[in-house]
Amino acid sequence: MTKPKVLVTREIPEEGLEIINEKCTAEVWHGELPLSRKELLKKVSGIDGLLCMLSETIDEELMNTAGPQLKVVSNYAVGYDNINIPAATARGIVVCNTPGVLTETTADLAFSLLMSAARRVVESADHVRAGKWKTWEPKLLLGMDIHQATLGIIGLGRIGRAVARRGRGFNMKVLYYDQDVKYEKAEEVGALACETMDELLKVSDFVSLHVPLSDETLHLIDENRLEKMKSTAILINTSRGQVVDTDALYKALKTGEIAYAALDVTDPEPLPAKHKLLKLPNCLVVPHIGSATVATRELMSIMAAESLMLVLKDEAPRFIVNPEVLQ
Ligand code: DGY
Repeated sequence: MTKPKVLVTREIPEEGLEIINEKCTAEVWHGELPLSRKELLKKVSGIDGLLCMLSETIDEELMNTAGPQLKVVSNYAVGYDNINIPAATARGIVVCNTPGVLTETTADLAFSLLMSAARRVVESADHVRAGKWKTWEPKLLLGMDIHQATLGIIGLGRIGRAVARRGRGFNMKVLYYDQDVKYEKAEEVGALACETMDELLKVSDFVSLHVPLSDETLHLIDENRLEKMKSTAILINTSRGQVVDTDALYKALKTGEIAYAALDVTDPEPLPAKHKLLKLPNCLVVPHIGSATVATRELMSIMAAESLMLVLKDEAPRFIVNPEVLQ
């Protein structure tokens, strides 16, 4: 019997590759950068399964180029805004993602950004490296207290709740805004509901974003919403770059409308080294490393590979983005 053909678009941890290699003929792209669109389209032709990254656009053109035998797209990420889900469903393609395994790791990063921003950790380290540390100074690099401050969480899904628990552990007052979350789930993590997003923005010292990117959340944080925030507030984004209007954020940081932004995700992404945001002293940017720990990336590779294999065997994976496709 011929083995299914699979394309893995980047070198993921070995644990996942072993699962695929056992039963498939797999091509793995080992390049330092993602495949160009042209190369990607060439390589998907005739495949049965695709294990892809959030940096690849999986649209109708790609699905058509792959051919009608394509059964599964397994995304090496929890977010799947890079995939045209209705187009996949219309073609009977199962889409899988990696929820759960990266929740705590991503929440750790969100909280690291919050703490680094509040206590000016990066600036302080730069100060020392630049040979500016001459003596103990009463007013040197003063930051913001984290304990007893108000943390506003927008989007109280898995990662939002994990950040809320961290906030409570630091004795913060935790607020949230999320139309979909039931009160019991919020109470579990000690988060208090705000009726409107504006109410949360007005009183929060830290605002952390945990919504998926969709038509509804594109530029959710725009000029108008930034204006509502405290001038001392810190914005943390570990969700998707396009949830924030970059130009509006630049203006808000430049004019002191808000104090600081700490971003794991940006729009555009990657952010060019010469981008105006990087010229601001009150903006910290890290390169989309929310789930980047050895253990979590291994778990993601296993989960993405197992889901892909299950679909290729005509079995249902544990997590599926478009379950209606199986009906
Ligand atoms: C995701 O999974 O969506 C993150 O952004 C990367 O791990």
